[in-house]
Amino acid sequence: MSDPRSRREDRADRAMRASAAPAEGNRDFDFTSADFERIRALIHRRAGISLSDHKRDMAYSRLARRLRALGLDSFRDYLDQLEQGNDALEWEAFTNALTTNLTAFFREAHHFPILAEFVKRRAQPVSVWCSAASTGEEPYSIAMTLIEALGDRAARDARVLATDLDTQVLAKANAGVYAYDQVKHLSAERLKRFFLKGTGAHDGFVKVRPELRQMIRFEQLNLTDADYGLRQQFDAIFCRNVMIYFDKPTQSRVLTRFEPLMKPDGLLFAGHSENFTYVTQAFRLRGQTVYELARERANPTTAASATTTATSAARRVGDTIGTPA
Ligand SMILES: C[S@@+](CC[C@H](N)C(=O)[O-])C[C@H]1O[C@@H](n2cnc3c(N)ncnc32)[C@H](O)[C@@H]1O
Repeated sequence: MSDPRSRREDRADRAMRASAAPAEGNRDFDFTSADFERIRALIHRRAGISLSDHKRDMAYSRLARRLRALGLDSFRDYLDQLEQGNDALEWEAFTNALTTNLTAFFREAHHFPILAEFVKRRAQPVSVWCSAASTGEEPYSIAMTLIEALGDRAARDARVLATDLDTQVLAKANAGVYAYDQVKHLSAERLKRFFLKGTGAHDGFVKVRPELRQMIRFEQLNLTDADYGLRQQFDAIFCRNVMIYFDKPTQSRVLTRFEPLMKPDGLLFAGHSENFTYVTQAFRLRGQTVYELARERANPTTAASATTTATSAARRVGDTIGTPA
């Protein structure tokens, strides 16, 4: 699990670099190895993200936008300002710039029938935490699965917490508006049941129906924080395709924090290239990248106190998205 980068994400990164990163000679700003090392250390400290060497162009092109926006001439000035200024908004922009947010509706589709069968056997209402929710496709897929498995009424009582570090992706998730291309592979039944179709200026877009949106609470949460501030325990935790960005000690700390947040016999869903067996003894593999607690707790601990800060990133969407998709 040292650096098991998924091929798909690598392809996406390469495509992004090819389209966005200027060749070294054509760059607007000098970008030295020392600059890159500084960025690496800062993002690791802040988000647990280990930027590998091949992310150098990505770091340049995404942060060069911050230099332009701030009217700065060099990465050194930018990084000095960032470190000395203690400007929370700039730290947020820096972090948002360096996350990779690739996701899709019903990505790694084999997990959703497992979730559906699992929640039918659980005491109601069930609670699911999607811990790296990105732009929302994953938590909305979870919510759709709960409705299909439990019916509208039981699903309405279910709790889906969707968190991410990146405030920009959370804003998009909160809005629940997607290009039609992103949902066109869903069945006609799902499209009709869960989405509204945009018209006029919103032609080519869909919006998740309010019933689906209302099942999910979106909040900002950094998985590397020492205390997540979550009071409840979860029947299932989705932590997919984010651990690949963390080094092993960080992965281990995150899994240690998950343990008391799981209800007895709860399930932990991991990404296709993530293997937690080498990182922790707290969870054991049940199969198909789904884990369960390795040992039953005598006294299940409830999670620590203090509520997480709600993100107020909801973006308003025009009323014209209103007909069934
Ligand atoms: C590649 S996406 C995966 C999205 C989704 N889980 C999936 O599998 O389709 C990784 C997400 O992890 C988030 N992330 C990165 N570091 C994080 C951290 N320290 N805490 C919480 N989320 C983080 C990123 O912002 C990004 O949205």
